[in-house]
Amino acid sequence: MLPLNVHHTAIAVRDLDAALADLEAQYGVTPAYREVIEEQGVEEAMVPLGGSHLQLLMPLGEDTPVGRFLASRGEGLHHVALQVADIEAALSHLTDAGARLVDEKPRIGGGGHRIAFVHPKALAGTLIELVEVS
Ligand code: CO
Repeated sequence: MLPLNVHHTAIAVRDLDAALADLEAQYGVTPAYREVIEEQGVEEAMVPLGGSHLQLLMPLGEDTPVGRFLASRGEGLHHVALQVADIEAALSHLTDAGARLVDEKPRIGGGGHRIAFVHPKALAGTLIELVEVS
């Protein structure tokens, strides 16, 4: 199972407007879209950068995964998303490789893509997201 690309790198922020203003002032980049994803408890902004993206994540409340992440670890790198062509094949391969999964089955994430998360314990404390782009 070879990932095709880094689809995006995600940073957890407390104030999405402020973080987007910082990104524009420092790097001259602006988001392609912003989206509230109720089931994940986040508002996200996707900022194109060359062939990849930066994703900024702001929790919708304290009692959400990103809200709890901010409370325990503060702002910063939240996850790295790897693009795969076949997400079921990738999950099956990771299970065979002994990686602990957060999502046994794909769900719908930002941009309407099928996604799944791999537990941080599987790889050096780093949350990995798989994004299917066919
Ligand atoms: Co993501």
